[in-house]
Amino acid sequence: MDQPIGVIDSGVGGLTVAKEIMRQLPKEKIIYVGDTKRCPYGPRKEEEVLQYTWEMAHYLLKHHHIKMLVIACNTATAIALDEIKATLDIPVIGVIQPGARTAIKVTNNQHIGVIGTINTIKSEAYKEALLSLKAGLTVQSLACPLLVPFVESGTFLDQTAEAVVKDSLEPMKETGIDTLILGCTHYPILKEPIQRFMGSDVSIISSGDETAREASTILSYKGLLNTSKETPVHTFYTTGQQQNFQNIARDWFGYLPGKVETVSLEHIYQQ
Ligand code: DGL
Repeated sequence: MDQPIGVIDSGVGGLTVAKEIMRQLPKEKIIYVGDTKRCPYGPRKEEEVLQYTWEMAHYLLKHHHIKMLVIACNTATAIALDEIKATLDIPVIGVIQPGARTAIKVTNNQHIGVIGTINTIKSEAYKEALLSLKAGLTVQSLACPLLVPFVESGTFLDQTAEAVVKDSLEPMKETGIDTLILGCTHYPILKEPIQRFMGSDVSIISSGDETAREASTILSYKGLLNTSKETPVHTFYTTGQQQNFQNIARDWFGYLPGKVETVSLEHIYQQ
């Protein structure tokens, strides 16, 4: 099945998940959409996040005939996953369950922290996912609204992130957690300063690895894995500034893993 996998996010954050999919499923072609122009989704109304997420999904279905959709955004997963999954007839996966599963495997003291956008934390989606997998856990949640705009600006490419990480994570520091879930796909880009701030006793969890494993399991089970011998050519669409997106992608991957192009999604329902 050489149709592509669609990966969506509000911006560059989903690249952290795309990288894991490319590593674990090197034969699969990825079509990525980052809605950079309307990023951040974190403080937006739920209806807006739902509509924008649908627009990305429709674009990928209509123009790229994707065989699977990965909602590589925690905010969109919290708000839109259930509806999109129930509506589409292709597999749709999000990033919250995989992140929760990984954290439960790693924690020793059963005290887990979650950082994310305002919408993700408000939804309590992680808390619910964690407690439904394992009762009795203590979950500490914190919204960090400064981090997504900081990553999207590309400032971290030539400036230290220590100050913004410290300002955002200070309330999480002395809580006694031994595991911290990066409940926003932008945050793994700041994993090193976050690890330095939290200290080496705290395990930092990103959901990319486990999400890619889930994608792999589903594609294999459904007989949808790519069997073609050609090396896949990935495409990354942004609704915003192409050059900035390209710079961040190059830094994250260590090379440019495909074409970066711009796309407009505003009128997708009318197309
Ligand atoms: N990467 C998105 C997430 O995982 C960021 C959301 C935003 O745009 O605020 O939540």
